[in-house]
Amino acid sequence: MDITRVCVVGGGTMGNGIAHVFALKGFEVTLVEARKELADKALGVIAKNLDRQAAKGSISAADKEAALSRLKTALSPEEAKGFHLAVEAVSERLELKKQVFRALDAAAAPGAILATNTSSLPVTEIAAAVKDPSRVIGMHFMNPVPVMKLVEIIRGLQTSDETCKTVHDLTAKLGKTPAMAKDFPGFVSNRVLMPMINEAIACLHEGISSRDDIDTIMKLGMAHPMGPLQLADYIGLDVCLAIMGVLHEGFGDSKYRPAPLLKQMVQAGRLGVKSGAGFYEYPRK
Ligand code: CAA
Repeated sequence: MDITRVCVVGGGTMGNGIAHVFALKGFEVTLVEARKELADKALGVIAKNLDRQAAKGSISAADKEAALSRLKTALSPEEAKGFHLAVEAVSERLELKKQVFRALDAAAAPGAILATNTSSLPVTEIAAAVKDPSRVIGMHFMNPVPVMKLVEIIRGLQTSDETCKTVHDLTAKLGKTPAMAKDFPGFVSNRVLMPMINEAIACLHEGISSRDDIDTIMKLGMAHPMGPLQLADYIGLDVCLAIMGVLHEGFGDSKYRPAPLLKQMVQAGRLGVKSGAGFYEYPRK
């Protein structure tokens, strides 16, 4: 199938970034949000991020206008009927994702591919909610989506070779680099990234080093763009804790136990950038 019409469900940070890159690369995009004001807010963020790229000269003003003209919003998958690819980017709750997939299944064009942007939930279980699980796959974009080059593609137990190939080729058309992983807890990205962040939090808790020195060691010593504590704040400490929980439960191995300080930060409501404070402070502008 020639994929030209894309439906993105969820207009939060990941969803608006995903809609942004598809629209910029020439796809007709319908962004589904449950409420009109949320959909409008997502469009506003996309316009601002396109402006940012235009101001830097990485896209032209005409590219920006063309991308915006290819974007529309809908209140349900039903209203976005007839798409060739859907990318679900709602919050990380398994039951909610299954519900979205059932609605997408009913609204999709015949043979359409249904993708989830989950960062750690089982793609295989989400796929079991639809009639044909061979057409379900994980497309795990990284934040900020317009900037990050990777899409981790997750093959569920029943995902077909054809679906994998189509999504692999499509990712390249988006100007991103695809990398494949099987559907096991944390896939590759978060199985490797989260224990690193968790260890950085344990180092802070044990007084091995200060917040700033831990981040400096990893930034300058390992050439990471952000230190692990700053990155944890950027991702959201609640998200980090949830992913450590998936690894811990999924492998049943104590090496994945969440750092006590990570749990405590979440209990305190210090979730990082989104709550205004985490390991660092983020005063509201
Ligand atoms: N949309 C469009 N452009 C954006 C953008 C957005 N949302 N956010 C940043 N940019 C652009 C900026 O305009 C700038 O463009 P130029 O290079 O053309 O100047 C560029 O990105 C860099 O941005 P800034 O100058 O504002 O800031 P920076 O140099 O400090 O970079 C950063 C910011 C890109 C976020 C960088 O710090 C970085 O790469 N950090 C690591 C991010 C990371 O690891 N992401 C993965 C998180 S894990 C995940 O997403 C998956 C999961 O499952 C948890």
